[in-house]
Amino acid sequence: MKALVLYESMYGNTRRVAEAIAHGLDDTMPALAVPVSDVTEEQVAECELLVVGGPTHVHGMSRPSTRRSAAGVASATAEVDFGAQVNVGIREWLSAAHPAVPAQSAVAFDTRNHGPVLITGRASKGITEGLRRAGFRLLAKSESFEVGPGPSLVPEELERAARWGGELGRLIKDRGA
Ligand SMILES: Cc1cc2nc3c(=O)[nH]c(=O)nc-3n(C[C@H](O)[C@H](O)[C@H](O)COP(=O)(O)O)c2cc1C
Repeated sequence: MKALVLYESMYGNTRRVAEAIAHGLDDTMPALAVPVSDVTEEQVAECELLVVGGPTHVHGMSRPSTRRSAAGVASATAEVDFGAQVNVGIREWLSAAHPAVPAQSAVAFDTRNHGPVLITGRASKGITEGLRRAGFRLLAKSESFEVGPGPSLVPEELERAARWGGELGRLIKDRGA
């Protein structure tokens, strides 16, 4: 049994959350965090659980235009390959995604600004809808991880991401998926 944490990240926050989730999953099954621009069909086909996440841009999933603005204001510390990330995001991946086996399990997450969801919006809503539409079986409710106050995740959010990964691992094992 394997898990794949598929993510999109311009500034590294969603990448750090994805890696923490994979770390939490590792207690129950081998888990790998992979950027959406690099993922292969084989990696998706080989996993029993797919965890899919991205940053919230303009209240929902990012688009090429919002990724371009993010790249435009990139700080010197940004670590991503902007060319790849601007063109391929979770939204584009979802438009062609399909389960490798009937009802392959999946679950969504996002990162977003600190604050009430009514004000921030959340990308995980659209990711969940995309996964359902594509035919994945939703293992659990989606989760949001908050950035800030300030530009980065507080360590407690990464610890929560690892705990959530652990819970997902136990859930899918208990269900014998
Ligand atoms: C163009 C753009 C639009 C954004 N819009 C929102 C938003 O509507 N709501 C929100 O909570 N955060 C918003 N954010 C903040 C990001 O969701 C947040 O910084 C996220 O963690 C970035 O993830 P990354 O570091 O993986 O790229 C926006 C960021 C950018 C660059």
